[in-house]
Amino acid sequence: MPDAMPDATPDALPDALPDALPDALPDALPDATPAPSRADAGRPAALTDPLGPPTGITPSAPCRPLIVIGAGALGGHVAVRLARAGVAVALLARPVQARAIEASGLCLVEAGRAQAITVSVFDRIDALPWAAARAVLVCVKSGDTATTARALAPWLPPGVPVLSLQNGVDNARVLAEALPDAPLLVGLAYLAAASPRPGVVEHHGGGTLVLAPATPMAENPAGHEAENEAENKAEPARPGAPPPVPVALADLGAALTAAGYTVQTVADARPALWRKLLVNGCCNAVSALAQADYAQMAALAPVRELLDALLDEGLAVARAEGVALDADELRAAVARIAQTMPQQRSSTAQDLARGRPSEIDHLNGHLVARGRALGVPTPSHRAVWALVRLVESVQAAARPAHAAAHSVAPAR
Ligand SMILES: NC(=O)c1ccc[n+]([C@@H]2O[C@H](COP(=O)([O-])OP(=O)(O)OC[C@H]3O[C@@H](n4cnc5c(N)ncnc54)[C@H](OP(=O)(O)O)[C@@H]3O)[C@@H](O)[C@H]2O)c1
Repeated sequence: MPDAMPDATPDALPDALPDALPDALPDALPDATPAPSRADAGRPAALTDPLGPPTGITPSAPCRPLIVIGAGALGGHVAVRLARAGVAVALLARPVQARAIEASGLCLVEAGRAQAITVSVFDRIDALPWAAARAVLVCVKSGDTATTARALAPWLPPGVPVLSLQNGVDNARVLAEALPDAPLLVGLAYLAAASPRPGVVEHHGGGTLVLAPATPMAENPAGHEAENEAENKAEPARPGAPPPVPVALADLGAALTAAGYTVQTVADARPALWRKLLVNGCCNAVSALAQADYAQMAALAPVRELLDALLDEGLAVARAEGVALDADELRAAVARIAQTMPQQRSSTAQDLARGRPSEIDHLNGHLVARGRALGVPTPSHRAVWALVRLVESVQAAARPAHAAAHSVAPAR
């Protein structure tokens, strides 16, 4: 398996990566990387490179495309990196994004350089090259997972793997409900990307992807047996049968490694998904409600106490879910954010600042819902979740057109 690191657990990652808490990073860091000028973004694809020699590669590999759903920050980053590496990719975008990408390529701003890369883009799900699809990468926000899954269901050919690269611990379950026959994978993206405008993606750091079967190997003995690559080669799948999940993992791992990501594969992503959920559950809403950066949050003793309470409640929910996490390590990780990213605000803060729907229902809201189901009190999560929902609903009411397009779900 490419770049497989059998010894590396997801929990080991954050210490290895200064930017390993991507959602503790804002999804837009206006000061971190200069945005490309209009002229940069408008130059012909694969030629734009005002800051260095041309390095854009027009994808030409005549192979089955990876279908990326969502042309925002993460999906745009993955699609443009794949296309730049010559990996066939087909990107499902909103019409305004598709028009921008068709006109000028998908512009990647990375390490101070801007490149526009030709990417095959579609604005209708039925127009995607389904017959040749190699895998589907779901890169929409968690609130859009159910709609996206239902939209995929009529088109997804049997056996084509689906990888959720989203934050949150519930996306695989939602995808499985609508796509019961798809081999499902989950991934954690330890990177910070932003899309300041349609057709432009900024990379602000990180680049590790942790991939795993959606159903942990231990609960999937057949898949576990097939983990050995030689075995997979020796025993090809029945014609028409879905490929074993480990084959899909290896294939996606190879493509994403070629795209320049550091890819790790693990048997069970739950500890890493929950770890990220708990860190984000501590930091995101508080940063959002105060529009405060992490240093400002850490400077106030009552806020530090609130973060502690949020973490304790989150750990109790995780324990009740059967996910064991290292409380001391997590406490240290939360404290470290103020040192490693003092001036930054959470992605939820960015969403509220722009009047966009956040993923709060899938962060603190999920912990509240699971806590209620499992008999674990979560008063601090309930308070910050309710307040973020209130801000969202006030914003939605102030913008009727926006409210119609992105209605806020009713309170749970
Ligand atoms: N950004 C990062 O650095 C980063 C890092 C790690 C993990 N993540 C996770 O990755 C996920 C995506 O985050 P993001 O930052 O990329 O969000 P984003 O910038 O809002 O991108 C999501 C894009 O998907 C579009 N979309 C939603 N449903 C669609 C559909 N059915 N068809 C076509 N397009 C659709 C959205 O359009 P509309 O806005 O018009 O709905 C938006 O352009 C989240 O779960 C996030 O937590 C992000």
